[in-house]
Parts: sequence; structure tokens; C-alpha cells
Amino acid sequence: MIKLIDDRDLARSLRSDVRAGLTASPKQLPPKWFYDARGSELFEEITRLPEYYPTRTERAILTLRAPEIARITDAKTLVELGSGSSEKTRLLLDAMVGRGTLGAFVPLDVSEAALEAAVETLGHAYPGLSVSGVVGDFGRHLQHLPDGDNRVVAFLGGTIGNLEPAERAAFLSGLRAVLRDGEWLLLGADLVKDPGVLVPAYDDAAGVTADFNRNVLRVINRELDADFDESAFEHVAVWADGPEWIEMRLRSRVAQTVRVSALDMTVDFTDGEEMLTEVSAKFRREGLTAELSEAGFELRHWWTDPQSWFGVALARAAHR
Ligand code: AVJ
Repeated sequence: MIKLIDDRDLARSLRSDVRAGLTASPKQLPPKWFYDARGSELFEEITRLPEYYPTRTERAILTLRAPEIARITDAKTLVELGSGSSEKTRLLLDAMVGRGTLGAFVPLDVSEAALEAAVETLGHAYPGLSVSGVVGDFGRHLQHLPDGDNRVVAFLGGTIGNLEPAERAAFLSGLRAVLRDGEWLLLGADLVKDPGVLVPAYDDAAGVTADFNRNVLRVINRELDADFDESAFEHVAVWADGPEWIEMRLRSRVAQTVRVSALDMTVDFTDGEEMLTEVSAKFRREGLTAELSEAGFELRHWWTDPQSWFGVALARAAHR
């Protein structure tokens, strides 16, 4: 296991994100802080909800297309960014190992616990394969990706949608810069569709997403000795037409003051004030093709489900 971040770096970036986000106007918190152990479990639960179509739709596409992806890329190394539990990756690993080209799997995630579990399980499931995790942040640590031969970098689940356009451009160019000509990006992207389908996916009837959203408050309470009362914040999910993304917010139900002791800070919320906790951008094929091309990737294949709800792009690092 390669560790590019340790608990002290993590604590430092949480403090700086929370300080910046709670003094900004409007207030905002980055979505990466949802995912402590409980948040990761809640996310797993979300992926099984009837309203949350992205996970199962992407899985269906990969189930169908993994053999093609293995054949086209002839991957020797598979890198997975923000791998989490690496569950969908098995579809790719089965196909790539089956072809006999793959020598190494490198999952990268900020959560050391999630990586340890994935490395352990996958190491056993694929005995001939070198499986080594990297504890890192895909936003900051791409330069440290282990060198490999004919790498395929998988960034699945629609997580690219959590980045705002400028961050996305920086991420894609940064990734292109560490790849050699001809290496591959396999990108899962959620697509623009009827808000009547999109909104319930982020505001489910059972309230799991609401609980997931409020989890960021529990993380801040625990890690920064704060006193957020989670029941005083309401979950909000809205479709923003202009940027074509879902926004998750936490709306203060009352006027209140919150103390964040570790930052020696008090924060006032007005009654009804909304704090942005996540954007989840939805894409169109043309827009994504243009963004990829701008970053030095050439879209080679594009697969969707029959309803065109989710897209999987296979793009090649172009010769420059
Ligand atoms: C894991 C980032 C893809 O944006 O759909 C699920 C996270 N947020 N429900 C998404 C999420 C609310 C998810 N990603």
C-alpha cells in the first residue's frame, strides 16, 4: 500500500475546507467529507434504492461491454480512481484477467479502510494479479500514480459529476498529463434526463439520501468538535437547469448558531438558510466529448443503456 495522505493531512484538509466553506457566502461543504465509515455504508445503501438508477445502470453497461473494453484496450494495468469497494471493477477484472493481458490492479481512494478491504478481497479472488492500493486523492495525487504499461484508468460511478466544470477541466488535463499517448480513460458519467427521474434519485422516499447528506454534519461534529444539531437541518435536492446538475443542500430549519471548537469558530445560520453540500453534474455526449478533447483525450467508444440514462466513455490519450 502506498500512502500519499495520512490522518494528519486528512485532518488538515478537513479543517481548511470547513473553515473556508462555513465562512463563504453561500455556505458550502465539499462532498468528499460524506464518506466516513457510516457515510460509505449509507452510500452503499443508496446504490440499492429503487430511485437511485446510476449504479445498477452503469453495472448493466459494464456487464455487457467489459469483454469489448478488455479487447480494445489490451490493458496491462488497471487503475481505478475513487475505487471505494471496487465492486463494479470485478466485471472489468474478470474480462481483463480472462484475456490474459492484465498484470496489475491499482485502486486509489482516500479511505484506507475501504482500500484495505478491496485489496484483501481482490488479491484472493485474482491470485496471479498484483493488487496494490494507493491512499490518495484523485484531485491532488495523479502525478504519483504508479508507472505501468498500457494503463487503463477507470473513473466510474459518475463521480466526475461531483467536480465543477473548472475542476473537471483541471482533473482531465492533469490525468492526460501523467498518461502516455495511447493509454486509456474509462469514464462513467450520469446523463441529463427528465428531472422527474433525477430528483427522486437524490431525494428518495425512504430518506436514506437525507441521512447521507446530514452525515457531513456528524463528521464535522466528531472530527472538529462541533455541535451541529442534525435534526435542525433539512435535506434539499434540486435540479439546476443552467449548469445541468443536481444540487444537494442542507437547509437550516431555524435561526441558529453552531460552534466549531477545533476551529475556534461560531457560525450563524438564518432561518431557511441553505448550505451547498454536493453538485452532481449530468452530461450529454457532445459536451463530454468536447471536454475530453479539450483535455487531450479522444473519445473512441460510447456506450449507454437502452434508456440513455448513463454513459460509459472509453477515451484514448491523444498524440500531441
Ligand atoms: C458517488 C458521487 C456518484 O453524485 O450520484 C449519491 C453520490 N450523492 N446520492 C452521485 C451521491 C447523493 C454519487 N456519486
